Amino acid sequence: MGLFTRSNNGTATVTPSPAAGSSTPIVDPPAAMAAAMPAPAAPRPVPAAVPPQQTERQIYLQQLKVRLHQQLVERLDMQNMRSLPPEVVRAEVRALIRELCLNEKNLINQSEQEKLMDDVMDETFGLGPLETLLKDPTITDILVNKYDRIYCEKRGRLEAVDVRFRDNAHLRQIIDRIVALVGRRVDEISPMVDARLTDGSRVNAIIPPLALDGPAMSIRRFGAKPMQLEDLIRHGAFPPAVMDFLSSAVQARVNILISGGTGSGKTTLLNCLSRYVPTDERVITIEDAAELQLQQPHVVRLETRPPNIEGKGEVTQRDLVKNCLRMRPDRIIIGEVRGGEALDMLQAMNTGHEGSMTTIHANNTRDALGRLEVMIAMAGYDIPMRALRQQVASAIQVIVQAQRLPGGKRKVTRVSEITGMEGEQIQMHDLFHFEQHGVNSEGHAQGHFVCSGIRPRVAERIENRGIRLPMDLFQRRTIEG
Ligand SMILES: Nc1ncnc2c1ncn2[C@@H]1O[C@H](COP(=O)(O)OP(=O)(O)O)[C@@H](O)[C@H]1O
Ligand SMILES: [Mg+2]
Repeated sequence: MGLFTRSNNGTATVTPSPAAGSSTPIVDPPAAMAAAMPAPAAPRPVPAAVPPQQTERQIYLQQLKVRLHQQLVERLDMQNMRSLPPEVVRAEVRALIRELCLNEKNLINQSEQEKLMDDVMDETFGLGPLETLLKDPTITDILVNKYDRIYCEKRGRLEAVDVRFRDNAHLRQIIDRIVALVGRRVDEISPMVDARLTDGSRVNAIIPPLALDGPAMSIRRFGAKPMQLEDLIRHGAFPPAVMDFLSSAVQARVNILISGGTGSGKTTLLNCLSRYVPTDERVITIEDAAELQLQQPHVVRLETRPPNIEGKGEVTQRDLVKNCLRMRPDRIIIGEVRGGEALDMLQAMNTGHEGSMTTIHANNTRDALGRLEVMIAMAGYDIPMRALRQQVASAIQVIVQAQRLPGGKRKVTRVSEITGMEGEQIQMHDLFHFEQHGVNSEGHAQGHFVCSGIRPRVAERIENRGIRLPMDLFQRRTIEG
């Protein structure tokens, strides 16, 4: 590992580091600036296939469904239909299907009848074609690129699914229904909208003219039961040693920054770690779009608000951080630090709100610090670099890097500890990291975790709080992963 220093002409030079395993400073400002520009998204696996073409039979059934729905509307009157008890509508649909079967030349078999029945009910009471996907708990993301191009993420893999809307108008109808549930609307004036499903899933919809090929929608689902650190270990995200360290660090009120690309598992990890906050501590969460599911009783959740159509009424994360300091929190959890709130957050971490946590979009633990600096600089603060870094170095003790590796597996690829400043530079060392050797026959990344053998400075703080760490926790070794 080389040290970056700045020469007088402003170019960064690399000098050999004094000794392997010693503290290393972060990159210099221009490099940090470049690193802080939008980081590339985590690699996504190539979708399995494009959605298959509809067969003649499917098209026929689709048309039948439209006719059924129309007749249903005529009989029950649209206004009333959704307020009627589902059993009444179901009985009516059954009667209609029976009539249809008598009139159709093409016979509809029993399973097709059942499917028609379910589809019409989903159309009437639910979210149409999405209902089938929402019933599958293994689906974590539903991505509607176009009315007939739907992809789902299942167990870390993105695949095309054989579910479609009839046309753009149908998709739009369902989007309208979703956003109406949260009292919003989507139209030419506000063609982008965030909403939430009743199960808490987060929805973003965007329509023409911004979306070029018709309405598009992305749904991020939340499982009924939030993942726990043990689940992450089972998924191979990190070995038990990392869990022991991180969970004790949270209990001992260590400030933690979780860094990673989009979809790398930052929020999931933050959620899991929050479980180790003692229940008698008051936690305030601040998010742009609430997705944390803390299980503590003493939690107040805050969410930002976008400006309205006239551009008024915006409430930013920074506003919320400032406000939350007046709410007497013990700890502050910011879903993802993105801008002006970074300095307020660091100050809070430095002044009595130890044990605060947040996530940041960065490709490695070193860049994460660079990005924090840039966020503060871009928010217009004029603070000398050294003072700013001092603030960062004293506020944050541990940085965890999350990564989505080839094949879709999420792992914690590095846990670093900030040890202080040396001159202008923030010093940090790695406690754990993942070394990838390649990929297996299924395309999944393979490798092992390395425990660097360094005893972290926070170990003393942890033990001073009466939390016992396993004797060999920081012993130098490799662990299969
Ligand atoms: N270790 C893991 N193993 C399997 N799936 C995971 C893991 N961590 C996160 N996920 C899943 O990956 C998706 C993205 O995770 P999330 O925490 O929202 O990422 P980020 O906050 O970095 O964008 C979610 O569907 C989540 O359930
Ligand atoms: Mg997130």
